[in-house]
Amino acid sequence: MAISSHIKEMMEGSSFIRKMFETGAKLKEQYGDDNVYDFSLGNPDVPPIQKFTDTVIKIMEEDIPAKHGYMANAGFSFARKAVAAQVSKDQKADVDEQSVVMTCGAGGALNIVLKSILNPGDRVLVSSPCFMEYKFYADNHGGKLEIIKPKENFELDADAFEKAMGADVAAVILNSPNNPSGKIYSKENLNSLFEVLKKASDKYGRSIYVICDEPYRNIVFDGAEVPAVFPLYNNSIVVTSYSKNLSLPGERIGYVAANPAADDFDDLMNAVILCNRIMGFVNAPALMQRAVSELQGETVDISVYQRKRDLLCEELSRIGYEFEKPKGTFYLFIKAPGGDDAAFADLLLKERVLVVPGSGFAMPGYFRISYCVEDKTIKGSFSGFEKAFKQVCKNC
Ligand SMILES: Cc1ncc(COP(=O)(O)O)c(C=O)c1O
Repeated sequence: MAISSHIKEMMEGSSFIRKMFETGAKLKEQYGDDNVYDFSLGNPDVPPIQKFTDTVIKIMEEDIPAKHGYMANAGFSFARKAVAAQVSKDQKADVDEQSVVMTCGAGGALNIVLKSILNPGDRVLVSSPCFMEYKFYADNHGGKLEIIKPKENFELDADAFEKAMGADVAAVILNSPNNPSGKIYSKENLNSLFEVLKKASDKYGRSIYVICDEPYRNIVFDGAEVPAVFPLYNNSIVVTSYSKNLSLPGERIGYVAANPAADDFDDLMNAVILCNRIMGFVNAPALMQRAVSELQGETVDISVYQRKRDLLCEELSRIGYEFEKPKGTFYLFIKAPGGDDAAFADLLLKERVLVVPGSGFAMPGYFRISYCVEDKTIKGSFSGFEKAFKQVCKNC
């Protein structure tokens, strides 16, 4: 066999999202782009802000020695400083450049953090529903992802986390606002988990890290706020990117920011910097580091996503779908009528509406709509959503 049997196994069980993407491409070929309603991918459709374009053009025209050269593996000092100033505001803590490593997106950031902290066989816990790439990322570094069921309304279940604790738990990944549910964990809910983790860290004599995966921190609606984790839990690390808030997913730019109060802080940062190098990333893209340094605190026009959310929520709840109106992200996570998410996604597919079954996020019985799509896709999908609903809920 040419490829590793482990990777072959992974390819076979690989992402629902990808499968939907491929099915969508075939349908579009058959029926034309305008007749397929594809809500499967989280690829932002709001264009980057004009200031991004202007900044990139300005940088390209500037005379900067070794503009596109290698730099220190942690990134440009000015970029790390600019990010640290923003993280200080977001995390309500005093963070300086020593806490920051510029990365190839949030995916790159997660991988270098996990590589830095995992011993073979270590477990990484996450509450469902969750972004399933975490499973692959933990596996990349000899770890194992373990899914913890949430309480009602997708709240973190601190008791369930407590039951899962052991000497081999290295980290908990928190993704808030959450992909796919849009849930923002409250401060109280976070604190209930952190109490459990503090006790377990003492009991097992190891620093259990909380990895806050926050690419949607700034995509929030109705004045919602994402609580700062640094003041609540010392062993915390933010991993994030500009993929969603600046609509730059293909540019692969993000960062790691560690809590200055974390145990063995210097070792941790040196490990993360080394891993950025030896994973083959070497450093985050130079041009993008320069650009985002000048764009801290900026976001695309979030009101566009809020309007799309409202449009969808209004019509889907009129039809009879059940969901919690999300306060963040650009996803809606909806109860699958009849309870079988894969069967319902197939029904929608017959109407040329593409969604991702909740099983793809370790939460069967739901499906995800990614609404970073054109308004005409949203409006065009409504009759398909209604037909599929009525087929299952004849007497609803
Ligand atoms: C929850 C979550 N984490 C991480 C990522 C990866 O983001 P990036 O493109 O910055 O690697 C995504 C992308 O969709 C995501 O939804």
